[in-house]
Amino acid sequence: MKIVLASSEALPFSKTGGLADVAAGLTKALAAAGHQVTLITPHYPHVFPAHAPRLPTRARLQVPLGNRTISAHLLRSEFPDSNVDVVLVDQQAFFNRPALYTEGGSDYPDNCERFVFFSRAVIEAVHRLGLEPDVFHANDWQTGLIPALVAHEYRQLPGCETTASVFTIHNMAFQGRFPASAMELTGLDQRLFNMHEMEFYGELNLLKTGIVFSDFATTVSPTYAREITRPEYGYGLERTCQAKLDRLVGILNGVDLADWHPATDPHLPVRFSADTVAEGKAACKQALQHELGLDDRPDALLFGMVSRMTDQKGFDLIAARAEDILRANVQFAFLGTGERQYEDFVAELAEKHPGRVAATLGFNEGLAHRIEAGADAYLMPSRFEPCGLNQQYSLLYGTVPIVHAVGGLADTVVDLRPDTATDGTANGFVFHHYDANTFLETVWRAVGCFLHDQETWAGLVQSGMRGDLSWNRSAAAYAELYQKAITGLYVDRGLTPPGSAVPAGAAAMPGAAATPSQSPPGDSPRAVRGNK
Ligand code: ADP
Ligand code: GLC
Repeated sequence: MKIVLASSEALPFSKTGGLADVAAGLTKALAAAGHQVTLITPHYPHVFPAHAPRLPTRARLQVPLGNRTISAHLLRSEFPDSNVDVVLVDQQAFFNRPALYTEGGSDYPDNCERFVFFSRAVIEAVHRLGLEPDVFHANDWQTGLIPALVAHEYRQLPGCETTASVFTIHNMAFQGRFPASAMELTGLDQRLFNMHEMEFYGELNLLKTGIVFSDFATTVSPTYAREITRPEYGYGLERTCQAKLDRLVGILNGVDLADWHPATDPHLPVRFSADTVAEGKAACKQALQHELGLDDRPDALLFGMVSRMTDQKGFDLIAARAEDILRANVQFAFLGTGERQYEDFVAELAEKHPGRVAATLGFNEGLAHRIEAGADAYLMPSRFEPCGLNQQYSLLYGTVPIVHAVGGLADTVVDLRPDTATDGTANGFVFHHYDANTFLETVWRAVGCFLHDQETWAGLVQSGMRGDLSWNRSAAAYAELYQKAITGLYVDRGLTPPGSAVPAGAAAMPGAAATPSQSPPGDSPRAVRGNK
């Protein structure tokens, strides 16, 4: 299959969060499975100066944006550890800035222009480079326009009628909402600005656009796929998700083992495997304590946290109970950036408890790896979590995760209970009610196990490290979905899909493209507030 994957960030070219890891990991896994895949992403020279060779293609693009035409260059590159194609869209005015999306706590005021431009540039690049994809795979609101462009423009071109689009939601909380006047930038028919398609309470909504117009929408864990059809997690788009139900699929993110594996990780002072984890982790823990100015205490339970410091990640629970937790023989290593109140909280906690709490405010890839390896347990009490990568990295690095049972956390972490201890499936600690006391009780369970039952703790570590978290299974699930989307388009058009036994004229796939009458009658105002 020929696949074009579009993402506003991808490692090692750029990163603000898990999307970057996923775009890179999935692209490489699809290529390893024999697909012809090209990743297209913006070039951010200021934030991420050269990581990999960047070869000019000499290709210039002229991209329509509202009533303007913006020119750009295409740079070709590849992942350092594989020869998979990456195309970087080089547009200095839009992307040569100190940050990707926000600066000084505010979004760039022209984010709509920047990413409508990028979405159109992906389509132009495909033409310019003659890629002829069978499927476009777009990710998050920044590329949410792509499925609409595919449905309303690309597929009208001769030979492109059966090109499919898949759209992945990485987080419902970020929707790309802009004033109605932004519709003009998209170049699409104003009639699409209606409550069933691109409009949301008077605004243009690019996440909704991606969901509505894609042949299949996916999200990054099976549990989150169910959750987002409910008002608590849908951020106002639960009706849109309900209308898409038979074309909304949860596929768990994998881990890119080339970047995250304790046996090969270049960031670690000592590398280890499941067989050598006891000594390996002890050495990494001691080195981490030294690096962060923590007391050299092998007996203390060291909690790690590498995270955006926001409500999503459960920092309100940490703030409410950190002092209680510190009554036990424990230490904390925090790394992250985010809301001022939480940055201040961890910084003050570190000041108050020198040698026991370390707070590093900033983005530091190497330290993130060393915390995963050196910590004994990892705190991820997220209020909601579409997938979550750090609990998976923790499992692989023998660091026992303590999580709230939502989204991908519920799908990857198995609570220690008598039955799961007996059958060997337990790999962490899980709580179900999001409140400070339940969180604290769960932390106490972990502390008790670590301090008094090392044998059970070692069992949790082994179970986590030996699980299969690679991309193989998930990449195969995406490939199957792409094929299903393509087959559906052939069948809808009365054509026989290549290499398929489905005869022309067979019934269309269940839930063929949402028509206005199948679409949601409206979205809930309650959740609109939740998105502000
Ligand atoms: P999200 O994408 O919601 O932030 P994920 O768990 O999916 O959460 O992914 C977060 C990714 O970003 C992980 O790879 C994590 O290690 C990384 N990360 C987050 N904050 C930092 C930081 N301050 N320094 C280095 N890496 C970070
Ligand atoms: C989002 C989610 C996170 C997920 C990541 C990659 O940032 O918050 O849970 O792991 O995307 O899909």
